[in-house]
Amino acid sequence: MSELAILGGPKTRTEAYPQWPVWDQRDIDAVIEVIKSGRWGGFPYPGPKTAELAQKFAEMQGGGYAVPMANGTVTMEVALRAAGIGWGDEVIVPAYTFQATASAPMAAGAIPVIVDVNPNTYCLDAGAAEKAITPKTKAIIPVHLGSNMADMDAIMALAEQHNLIVIEDCAHAHGAKWLGKGAGTIGHFGSFSLQSSKTLTTGEGGILLCRTPELAAKAASIIDCGRPHALGGGPEDESMDFQVGGNFRLSEIAAALALVGIERFPAQAQEREKMAAYMDESLSEIKGVRVLKRDERHTTRSFYRYIFAINPSEFGMEHEELCDALDAEGIDCWVGYEAMHNYKLFQPQKSRLAVPNAFPQYFDFASMNLPEAARACEHEAVWLDESIFRAGPKGVDDAVAAIKKIQMNAPDLTTRD
Ligand SMILES: Cc1ncc(COP(=O)(O)O)c(C=O)c1O
Repeated sequence: MSELAILGGPKTRTEAYPQWPVWDQRDIDAVIEVIKSGRWGGFPYPGPKTAELAQKFAEMQGGGYAVPMANGTVTMEVALRAAGIGWGDEVIVPAYTFQATASAPMAAGAIPVIVDVNPNTYCLDAGAAEKAITPKTKAIIPVHLGSNMADMDAIMALAEQHNLIVIEDCAHAHGAKWLGKGAGTIGHFGSFSLQSSKTLTTGEGGILLCRTPELAAKAASIIDCGRPHALGGGPEDESMDFQVGGNFRLSEIAAALALVGIERFPAQAQEREKMAAYMDESLSEIKGVRVLKRDERHTTRSFYRYIFAINPSEFGMEHEELCDALDAEGIDCWVGYEAMHNYKLFQPQKSRLAVPNAFPQYFDFASMNLPEAARACEHEAVWLDESIFRAGPKGVDDAVAAIKKIQMNAPDLTTRD
């Protein structure tokens, strides 16, 4: 019988990795406090817990005016609308990301223009973005993917040259820093998700960091049914009129949970970073494995997921086979997102609601060249779960041992039915 767990052999790791989210009595007490206060949500917005969250989160990231809201998708739509970007405008997004990064511009009425990623980081390639700029381009949304950051120096230089708004999609980048500056404080906006899998979570939620108090006031108004807001995003400024808005407010209960999460965050981030450095070292010894290159300007890494690449012909299999086998060995992993141009959202032949039906000129993927994103999504990328980096050195050792074991027994996989 094969040694591989996927073929009936013994698992490399039998103990489950630590659960996420982490919680204790502090979370229960925080929720009870809000329940007893009677102020669960509503307006004036933000309520006391949400206002405290805004302040503490901006402190944690090291700048900006924070506006908590319902999730990390609406944050990007609101950023675009607050910046006056909408109908007919073009917004550059990377080909390797969750579809929210492209659907947010569409929700604002703009067109997402999809460009390739840098193979070293799998984040938006500034050179590709530059080539995609037209007179209609109004914004760029770089995504800091997994545990990497996009080249913010190059992106900000491009934005300055072409007068573009930059919205950093930081759904994976809580606590990350570029040259000592917090992710989300470098562009005009930083968009954060607090959804349940994220490294700071309230179950569902989001925070938009805004560069100026004026932008924060506009964003707060858009998510608070259009009520006028004071500079910085605080409650109503009576001197202003309502604008068009919706209700995307965060509840006080969710804000209270995020505040406890912020207390725990530094120790968790430190542990993940230490264990991920150990993982870098251990993985680099394996033939056919490429550890993604950390840009030296990326001074603090955060680890939503640890992404590495394999060269299938050198490693001995495709990434999908490796991930299936790793899962069976007890190692939590995933092949990652599909390349954006493969999403149904953009395929008229697959969906009646696909975007190209309305804007065919933008979505001729057959003529688009996105080789790096395609290679990552179709063959190379392996996403390891953050829980692996909260289980001490043994957590990493088990994952590495499983990868080596699968490689060593690769012929068993090719001969199975
Ligand atoms: C890169 C990226 N951007 C945006 C989002 C959207 O966040 P939310 O689920 O809070 O709307 C996610 C969430 O998974 C994400 O991974």
